[in-house]
Amino acid sequence: NADKRSQILTINTLAAKFYYYMLKSEKGALAYHYLRGRELSDNTITGFGLGYSDKYSDSLYKYMKSKGYKDDILKETGLFTFEEKGVHDKFWNRVMFPIMDVNNKVIAFGGRVMGDGKPKYLNSPETKVFDKSRNLYGLNIARTSRKDYLLICEGYMDVISLHQAGFNNAVAALGTSFTSGHASLIKRYAKEVVLTFDSDGAGIKAALRAIPILREAGLSIKVLSMKPYKDPDEFIKALGPEAYEERIEKATNYFIFQVGTLMNEYNLYDPSEKTEFHNKVADMLLEFEDEIERNNYLESVCRTFNIPLDGLRQLVKKKGLNY
Ligand code: GTP
Ligand code: MN
Ligand code: MN
Ligand code: MN
Ligand code: MN
Repeated sequence: NADKRSQILTINTLAAKFYYYMLKSEKGALAYHYLRGRELSDNTITGFGLGYSDKYSDSLYKYMKSKGYKDDILKETGLFTFEEKGVHDKFWNRVMFPIMDVNNKVIAFGGRVMGDGKPKYLNSPETKVFDKSRNLYGLNIARTSRKDYLLICEGYMDVISLHQAGFNNAVAALGTSFTSGHASLIKRYAKEVVLTFDSDGAGIKAALRAIPILREAGLSIKVLSMKPYKDPDEFIKALGPEAYEERIEKATNYFIFQVGTLMNEYNLYDPSEKTEFHNKVADMLLEFEDEIERNNYLESVCRTFNIPLDGLRQLVKKKGLNY
Protein backbone atom coordinates (compact mmCIF):
# COMPACT_ATOMS: atom_id res chain seq x y z
CA ASN A 1 0.00 0.00 0.00
CA ALA A 2 2.80 2.42 0.89
CA ASP A 3 4.40 1.25 -2.32
CA LYS A 4 1.21 1.99 -4.25
CA ARG A 5 1.01 5.45 -2.76
CA SER A 6 4.51 6.28 -3.83
CA GLN A 7 3.84 4.91 -7.32
CA ILE A 8 0.78 7.15 -7.62
CA LEU A 9 2.79 10.14 -6.43
CA THR A 10 5.48 9.40 -9.01
CA ILE A 11 2.90 9.22 -11.78
CA ASN A 12 1.33 12.48 -10.58
CA THR A 13 4.70 14.22 -10.67
CA LEU A 14 5.30 12.90 -14.15
CA ALA A 15 1.86 14.12 -15.21
CA ALA A 16 2.53 17.58 -13.75
CA LYS A 17 5.75 17.80 -15.75
CA PHE A 18 3.96 16.59 -18.86
CA TYR A 19 1.29 19.30 -18.50
CA TYR A 20 3.92 21.92 -17.74
CA TYR A 21 5.96 21.16 -20.86
CA MET A 22 2.74 21.10 -22.87
CA LEU A 23 1.96 24.63 -21.67
CA LYS A 24 5.40 25.81 -22.75
CA SER A 25 5.16 24.06 -26.14
CA GLU A 26 3.52 25.43 -29.29
CA LYS A 27 0.38 23.42 -28.53
CA GLY A 28 0.04 25.30 -25.28
CA ALA A 29 0.16 28.77 -26.81
CA LEU A 30 -3.52 29.51 -26.21
CA ALA A 31 -3.40 28.23 -22.65
CA TYR A 32 -0.29 30.27 -21.92
CA HIS A 33 -2.03 33.26 -23.46
CA TYR A 34 -5.04 32.61 -21.24
CA LEU A 35 -2.92 32.60 -18.08
CA ARG A 36 -0.99 35.70 -19.11
CA GLY A 37 -4.34 37.30 -19.89
CA ARG A 38 -5.26 36.69 -16.27
CA GLU A 39 -2.14 38.66 -15.35
CA LEU A 40 -0.05 35.77 -14.08
CA SER A 41 3.69 36.28 -14.50
CA ASP A 42 6.09 33.61 -15.80
CA ASN A 43 7.44 33.32 -12.28
CA THR A 44 3.99 32.63 -10.89
CA ILE A 45 3.20 30.09 -13.62
CA THR A 46 6.43 28.23 -12.87
CA GLY A 47 6.12 28.60 -9.11
CA PHE A 48 2.70 26.95 -9.06
CA GLY A 49 3.71 24.48 -11.77
CA LEU A 50 0.72 25.38 -13.94
CA GLY A 51 0.21 23.38 -17.11
CA TYR A 52 -2.00 22.49 -20.03
CA SER A 53 -3.81 19.29 -21.00
CA ASP A 54 -4.06 19.28 -24.79
CA LYS A 55 -7.01 18.78 -27.13
CA TYR A 56 -6.53 15.07 -27.73
CA SER A 57 -8.33 12.94 -25.21
CA ASP A 58 -5.55 10.42 -24.60
CA SER A 59 -2.23 12.30 -24.73
CA LEU A 60 -1.38 11.68 -21.11
CA TYR A 61 -2.48 8.04 -21.29
CA LYS A 62 -0.24 7.38 -24.31
CA TYR A 63 2.64 9.08 -22.53
CA MET A 64 2.21 6.95 -19.40
CA LYS A 65 2.00 3.81 -21.55
CA SER A 66 5.23 4.78 -23.29
CA LYS A 67 6.80 4.94 -19.82
CA GLY A 68 5.66 1.38 -19.16
CA TYR A 69 2.92 2.00 -16.57
CA LYS A 70 0.21 -0.66 -16.31
CA ASP A 71 -3.53 0.07 -16.32
CA ASP A 72 -3.90 -1.28 -12.79
CA ILE A 73 -1.89 1.54 -11.27
CA LEU A 74 -3.04 4.18 -13.76
CA LYS A 75 -6.62 3.45 -12.68
CA GLU A 76 -5.74 4.49 -9.16
CA THR A 77 -4.44 7.93 -10.09
CA GLY A 78 -7.85 9.35 -11.01
CA LEU A 79 -6.28 10.87 -14.12
CA PHE A 80 -8.04 8.56 -16.58
CA THR A 81 -11.49 7.23 -17.30
CA PHE A 82 -11.59 3.55 -18.14
CA GLU A 83 -14.53 2.53 -20.31
CA GLU A 84 -15.23 -0.48 -22.49
CA LYS A 85 -14.71 1.67 -25.55
CA GLY A 86 -11.27 2.65 -24.35
CA VAL A 87 -9.27 4.78 -21.98
CA HIS A 88 -9.37 8.57 -21.92
CA ASP A 89 -7.61 11.31 -20.06
CA LYS A 90 -9.84 12.90 -17.46
CA PHE A 91 -8.49 16.33 -18.30
CA TRP A 92 -8.26 17.73 -21.78
CA ASN A 93 -8.05 21.19 -23.23
CA ARG A 94 -7.81 22.71 -19.77
CA VAL A 95 -5.35 24.85 -17.87
CA MET A 96 -3.95 22.56 -15.20
CA PHE A 97 -3.32 23.30 -11.52
CA PRO A 98 -1.30 20.65 -9.69
CA ILE A 99 -2.40 20.32 -6.06
CA MET A 100 0.45 19.79 -3.65
CA ASP A 101 0.38 18.51 -0.08
CA VAL A 102 2.43 20.19 2.65
CA ASN A 103 5.45 18.13 1.63
CA ASN A 104 5.27 19.45 -1.94
CA LYS A 105 4.07 16.13 -3.34
CA VAL A 106 1.63 16.35 -6.25
CA ILE A 107 -1.49 14.64 -4.91
CA ALA A 108 -4.14 15.76 -7.41
CA PHE A 109 -5.07 18.23 -10.15
CA GLY A 110 -7.61 20.86 -10.95
CA GLY A 111 -8.31 21.88 -14.51
CA ARG A 112 -10.06 25.01 -15.78
CA VAL A 113 -11.70 25.54 -19.16
CA MET A 114 -10.30 28.50 -21.02
CA GLY A 115 -13.47 30.48 -21.46
CA ASP A 116 -17.06 29.85 -20.52
CA GLY A 117 -17.47 26.07 -20.93
CA LYS A 118 -18.86 23.79 -18.24
CA PRO A 119 -17.89 22.52 -15.82
CA LYS A 120 -15.63 25.52 -15.20
CA TYR A 121 -13.33 23.47 -12.99
CA LEU A 122 -12.73 19.75 -12.90
CA ASN A 123 -10.93 18.22 -9.94
CA SER A 124 -9.26 14.85 -9.42
CA PRO A 125 -11.41 12.38 -7.49
CA GLU A 126 -10.23 11.25 -4.07
CA THR A 127 -7.51 8.61 -4.35
CA LYS A 128 -5.13 6.81 -2.01
CA VAL A 129 -3.03 9.98 -1.95
CA PHE A 130 -5.77 12.64 -2.15
CA ASP A 131 -8.14 13.27 0.73
CA LYS A 132 -10.01 16.47 -0.17
CA SER A 133 -10.98 17.15 3.39
CA ARG A 134 -7.40 17.08 4.66
CA ASN A 135 -5.58 19.21 2.15
CA LEU A 136 -5.57 22.90 1.33
CA TYR A 137 -4.35 24.38 -1.93
CA GLY A 138 -1.33 26.62 -1.37
CA LEU A 139 -0.53 25.38 2.13
CA ASN A 140 2.81 23.96 0.95
CA ILE A 141 3.90 27.58 0.43
CA ALA A 142 1.73 29.30 3.05
CA ARG A 143 3.22 27.14 5.81
CA THR A 144 6.57 28.86 5.25
CA SER A 145 5.04 32.35 5.54
CA ARG A 146 6.28 34.49 8.41
CA LYS A 147 2.79 35.80 9.10
CA ASP A 148 0.99 34.18 12.00
CA TYR A 149 -2.41 33.99 10.28
CA LEU A 150 -3.68 32.31 7.12
CA LEU A 151 -5.93 33.87 4.49
CA ILE A 152 -8.62 31.40 3.48
CA CYS A 153 -10.20 31.88 0.08
CA GLU A 154 -12.35 29.86 -2.31
CA GLY A 155 -10.43 29.18 -5.47
CA TYR A 156 -7.19 28.34 -7.23
CA MET A 157 -6.98 31.72 -8.91
CA ASP A 158 -7.56 33.54 -5.63
CA VAL A 159 -4.66 31.74 -3.96
CA ILE A 160 -2.38 32.33 -6.93
CA SER A 161 -3.26 36.02 -7.31
CA LEU A 162 -2.81 36.64 -3.61
CA HIS A 163 0.59 34.94 -3.59
CA GLN A 164 1.65 36.91 -6.63
CA ALA A 165 0.61 40.10 -4.85
CA GLY A 166 2.81 39.19 -1.87
CA PHE A 167 0.24 37.48 0.35
CA ASN A 168 2.01 34.14 0.50
CA ASN A 169 -0.15 32.99 3.43
CA ALA A 170 -3.26 32.31 1.29
CA VAL A 171 -4.85 28.87 1.01
CA ALA A 172 -8.11 27.46 -0.41
CA ALA A 173 -10.36 24.48 0.24
CA LEU A 174 -11.20 24.23 -3.48
CA GLY A 175 -14.94 24.04 -3.91
CA THR A 176 -15.44 21.41 -1.24
CA SER A 177 -16.92 22.69 1.96
CA PHE A 178 -14.76 23.33 4.93
CA THR A 179 -14.19 20.38 7.28
CA SER A 180 -12.74 19.75 10.73
CA GLY A 181 -9.89 18.03 8.88
CA HIS A 182 -9.05 21.35 7.23
CA ALA A 183 -9.35 23.16 10.56
CA SER A 184 -6.96 20.86 12.40
CA LEU A 185 -4.52 21.07 9.50
CA ILE A 186 -4.61 24.88 9.76
CA LYS A 187 -4.15 24.69 13.51
CA ARG A 188 -0.71 23.21 12.96
CA TYR A 189 0.48 26.33 11.18
CA ALA A 190 -1.54 29.27 12.49
CA LYS A 191 -3.56 30.62 15.41
CA GLU A 192 -5.71 32.94 13.38
CA VAL A 193 -7.49 32.86 10.03
CA VAL A 194 -8.93 35.62 7.90
CA LEU A 195 -11.80 34.39 5.75
CA THR A 196 -11.69 35.96 2.33
CA PHE A 197 -14.42 34.07 0.49
CA ASP A 198 -16.35 35.41 -2.50
CA SER A 199 -18.74 38.28 -1.77
CA ASP A 200 -21.72 36.49 -3.31
CA GLY A 201 -24.38 34.54 -1.42
CA ALA A 202 -22.48 31.27 -1.83
CA GLY A 203 -19.36 32.81 -0.34
CA ILE A 204 -21.25 34.22 2.65
CA LYS A 205 -22.89 30.83 3.23
CA ALA A 206 -19.50 29.12 3.02
CA ALA A 207 -18.10 31.54 5.61
CA LEU A 208 -21.05 30.98 7.96
CA ARG A 209 -20.56 27.22 7.69
CA ALA A 210 -16.79 27.40 8.20
CA ILE A 211 -16.91 29.61 11.31
CA PRO A 212 -18.16 27.03 13.87
CA ILE A 213 -15.75 24.43 12.48
CA LEU A 214 -12.80 26.79 12.84
CA ARG A 215 -13.99 27.86 16.30
CA GLU A 216 -14.14 24.23 17.35
CA ALA A 217 -10.44 23.93 16.49
CA GLY A 218 -9.72 26.95 18.68
CA LEU A 219 -8.76 29.34 15.90
CA SER A 220 -9.39 33.09 16.00
CA ILE A 221 -11.44 34.18 13.03
CA LYS A 222 -11.93 37.39 11.12
CA VAL A 223 -13.91 37.98 7.96
CA LEU A 224 -12.73 40.20 5.18
CA SER A 225 -15.07 41.94 2.77
CA MET A 226 -14.07 42.16 -0.88
CA LYS A 227 -16.98 44.39 -1.84
CA PRO A 228 -17.70 45.68 -4.38
CA TYR A 229 -15.52 43.03 -6.01
CA LYS A 230 -16.35 39.38 -6.33
CA ASP A 231 -13.27 37.63 -5.03
CA PRO A 232 -9.67 38.30 -3.96
CA ASP A 233 -8.38 37.82 -7.52
CA GLU A 234 -10.70 40.51 -8.88
CA PHE A 235 -10.15 42.79 -5.88
CA ILE A 236 -6.36 42.73 -6.25
CA LYS A 237 -6.58 43.30 -9.98
CA ALA A 238 -8.83 46.30 -9.49
CA LEU A 239 -7.36 47.96 -6.41
CA GLY A 240 -3.94 46.40 -5.82
CA PRO A 241 -2.14 44.88 -2.81
CA GLU A 242 -2.15 47.97 -0.57
CA ALA A 243 -5.93 48.21 -0.67
CA TYR A 244 -6.15 44.51 0.13
CA GLU A 245 -3.78 44.94 3.06
CA GLU A 246 -6.08 47.68 4.37
CA ARG A 247 -9.02 45.30 4.14
CA ILE A 248 -7.09 42.74 6.18
CA GLU A 249 -6.51 45.36 8.86
CA LYS A 250 -10.19 46.24 8.83
CA ALA A 251 -11.41 42.63 8.78
CA THR A 252 -14.53 42.03 10.86
CA ASN A 253 -14.62 39.92 13.98
CA TYR A 254 -16.45 36.67 13.12
CA PHE A 255 -19.25 37.27 15.64
CA ILE A 256 -19.99 40.73 14.30
CA PHE A 257 -20.08 39.19 10.82
CA GLN A 258 -22.55 36.53 11.98
CA VAL A 259 -24.84 39.11 13.58
CA GLY A 260 -24.55 41.36 10.53
CA THR A 261 -25.66 38.63 8.12
CA LEU A 262 -28.47 37.66 10.49
CA MET A 263 -29.63 41.28 10.62
CA ASN A 264 -29.99 41.34 6.84
CA GLU A 265 -32.74 38.73 7.14
CA TYR A 266 -34.99 41.06 9.13
CA ASN A 267 -36.99 44.14 8.32
CA LEU A 268 -36.02 46.31 11.26
CA TYR A 269 -38.81 48.80 10.55
CA ASP A 270 -41.19 46.09 11.72
CA PRO A 271 -41.23 46.05 15.56
CA SER A 272 -41.98 42.35 15.84
CA GLU A 273 -39.21 41.39 13.41
CA LYS A 274 -36.87 43.72 15.23
CA THR A 275 -37.72 42.03 18.54
CA GLU A 276 -37.11 38.64 17.01
CA PHE A 277 -33.73 39.82 15.81
CA HIS A 278 -32.80 41.07 19.28
CA ASN A 279 -33.87 37.75 20.78
CA LYS A 280 -31.69 35.84 18.36
CA VAL A 281 -28.72 38.04 19.15
CA ALA A 282 -29.29 37.47 22.88
CA ASP A 283 -29.31 33.70 22.24
CA MET A 284 -26.08 33.97 20.32
CA LEU A 285 -24.45 35.98 23.10
CA LEU A 286 -25.38 33.30 25.61
CA GLU A 287 -23.04 30.92 23.78
CA PHE A 288 -20.17 32.80 25.40
CA GLU A 289 -19.65 31.18 28.77
CA ASP A 290 -17.08 33.64 29.99
CA GLU A 291 -18.85 36.66 31.45
CA ILE A 292 -16.24 39.23 30.50
CA GLU A 293 -16.11 37.95 26.96
CA ARG A 294 -19.89 37.91 26.71
CA ASN A 295 -20.06 41.46 27.98
CA ASN A 296 -17.42 42.65 25.52
CA TYR A 297 -19.36 41.13 22.64
CA LEU A 298 -22.58 42.58 23.97
CA GLU A 299 -21.12 46.07 23.99
CA SER A 300 -19.54 45.69 20.61
CA VAL A 301 -22.69 44.33 18.97
CA CYS A 302 -24.84 47.09 20.43
CA ARG A 303 -22.44 49.77 19.25
CA THR A 304 -22.11 48.29 15.76
CA PHE A 305 -25.79 47.62 15.11
CA ASN A 306 -27.39 50.39 17.14
CA ILE A 307 -29.10 48.16 19.66
CA PRO A 308 -29.93 49.70 23.08
CA LEU A 309 -27.30 48.34 25.44
CA ASP A 310 -29.34 48.16 28.65
CA GLY A 311 -32.26 46.50 26.90
CA LEU A 312 -30.16 43.78 25.31
CA ARG A 313 -28.22 43.22 28.52
CA GLN A 314 -31.46 42.62 30.40
CA LEU A 315 -32.72 40.28 27.71
CA VAL A 316 -29.52 38.23 27.88
CA LYS A 317 -29.77 38.07 31.66
CA LYS A 318 -33.39 36.97 31.58
CA LYS A 319 -32.67 34.27 28.99
CA GLY A 320 -29.62 33.17 30.96
CA LEU A 321 -31.77 32.62 34.06
CA ASN A 322 -34.15 30.45 32.09
CA TYR A 323 -31.37 28.10 31.06
P1 GTP B 1 -12.18 31.87 -11.92
O1 GTP B 1 -13.41 32.06 -12.76
O2 GTP B 1 -11.14 31.09 -12.65
O3 GTP B 1 -11.68 33.13 -11.32
O4 GTP B 1 -12.58 30.89 -10.76
P2 GTP B 1 -13.13 31.18 -9.30
O5 GTP B 1 -12.20 30.52 -8.34
O6 GTP B 1 -13.46 32.61 -9.08
O7 GTP B 1 -14.46 30.32 -9.40
P3 GTP B 1 -15.65 30.22 -8.40
O8 GTP B 1 -15.72 31.36 -7.47
O9 GTP B 1 -16.82 29.95 -9.27
O10 GTP B 1 -15.32 28.87 -7.63
C1 GTP B 1 -14.43 28.79 -6.54
C2 GTP B 1 -13.77 27.43 -6.53
O11 GTP B 1 -14.77 26.42 -6.54
C3 GTP B 1 -12.93 27.14 -7.77
O12 GTP B 1 -11.62 27.60 -7.67
C4 GTP B 1 -12.99 25.64 -7.85
O13 GTP B 1 -12.06 25.03 -6.97
C5 GTP B 1 -14.38 25.33 -7.38
N1 GTP B 1 -15.27 25.23 -8.54
C6 GTP B 1 -15.81 26.22 -9.27
N2 GTP B 1 -16.55 25.76 -10.28
C7 GTP B 1 -16.50 24.42 -10.19
C8 GTP B 1 -17.07 23.35 -10.95
O14 GTP B 1 -17.75 23.56 -11.94
N3 GTP B 1 -16.80 22.08 -10.52
C9 GTP B 1 -16.03 21.82 -9.42
N4 GTP B 1 -15.81 20.55 -9.07
N5 GTP B 1 -15.47 22.81 -8.70
C10 GTP B 1 -15.69 24.08 -9.06
MN1 MN C 1 -12.54 12.79 2.82
MN1 MN D 1 -17.85 31.69 -6.16
MN1 MN E 1 -14.62 33.28 -7.28
MN1 MN F 1 -12.39 34.35 -9.69
